[in-house]
Amino acid sequence: MPTSPSTSKPPRARILTGDTPTHTGLHLGHYVGSLENRLKLQDEYDCYFLIANVHAFTTLADRPADIRANTIGIVKDWLAVGLDPDRSTFVLQSEIPAIAELTFLFAMLIPFNKVMRNPTLKTEIETKGLGETYPFGFPMYAVGQCADILTFRPELVPVGQDQEAHIEMCRDVALKFNQMYSGVGNRVEPRDHVKAGGVFPIPRAKIGRVARLVGLDGTNKMSKSLGNAIFLYDDAKTVQKKLNKITTGRQSPTEPGEITNTLMQYVDVFIGGASVAGEARAAEIKRLYATGEGGGIGDGHIKAELGEAINALIEPMRVRRAKLDGPEGDAIVNDVIRRGIARANIVAEETLHLAKKAMGLDFGGRLVTQV
Ligand code: TRP
Repeated sequence: MPTSPSTSKPPRARILTGDTPTHTGLHLGHYVGSLENRLKLQDEYDCYFLIANVHAFTTLADRPADIRANTIGIVKDWLAVGLDPDRSTFVLQSEIPAIAELTFLFAMLIPFNKVMRNPTLKTEIETKGLGETYPFGFPMYAVGQCADILTFRPELVPVGQDQEAHIEMCRDVALKFNQMYSGVGNRVEPRDHVKAGGVFPIPRAKIGRVARLVGLDGTNKMSKSLGNAIFLYDDAKTVQKKLNKITTGRQSPTEPGEITNTLMQYVDVFIGGASVAGEARAAEIKRLYATGEGGGIGDGHIKAELGEAINALIEPMRVRRAKLDGPEGDAIVNDVIRRGIARANIVAEETLHLAKKAMGLDFGGRLVTQV
């Protein structure tokens, strides 16, 4: 642990989360499902945001150029939405040797059959059509994800619901490690593991405000491949055009509407979620919508109001992203990546040292250059 003068504030608790660079194209579902959460957490926590570029090879090993382009794209996305590389650390997985080392060591603590029964992996095998042909490294990534997380010894892991099985596995690994190698008793509560001498805090998942944002089609989850998404970099007109296409089956402003339909869900999320005043306005819209009182409120009116709210939210992102796509963009991204690697390796090497020591593997240190 770095020693700090006794007058300084206690170190902020750590958070780790990340994305796999298998695709590009952030949409509103990504924003309310995870990015918004990260933006807020930056104020309170010491945040580590990981780009799982090694994991991307588990399904795209033959497309390294795409992985590289998506890696750079993710950093641009993060900067565009407002993640701040001065306050938070951007971690490029492939440049953190401790993660690879811990993956191997943790692989001894997880029964093989348990990995193969992991529901998140199973779903992925189905939805990505991996059949029987996936590489050994594919299920291995679940162990790798435990290492991604535990390398930074975080308290919280903000993720979507689909990642909960991975976090559960990560908790199992941390518990077992602490019990096996740090002498933590079987009956010690997870939250007391560090106090009891464990190397790893037992991290908890933190699910975002909106676990599933419905798409413009009104039935499926918002997703790029289903063509039902509003992207963060859609221009103002496109956003409005897409909203205007939402159908509710309502004939007039006074016809009482279904307050759980797509339009009303968006009102809740993008008008209600914006501020206290927004919350009051969303409640008012829903009341008029449900009752048709005082002339009610028309779909067209609501769509225009939604368009304004969504455009106000994403306009700064469009502006920042456009700058990053300009001539200086790549230099900015390279600098952010390099600084992140240097900072991340300080924590990562410290964790690795503690873990190897606990395992009786402390035969001499390795120095990672600190730029
Ligand atoms: N598997 C995650 C996803 O596809 C990305 C990821 C990799 C991650 N390592 C992580 C998320 C560690 C949280 C913590 O979304």
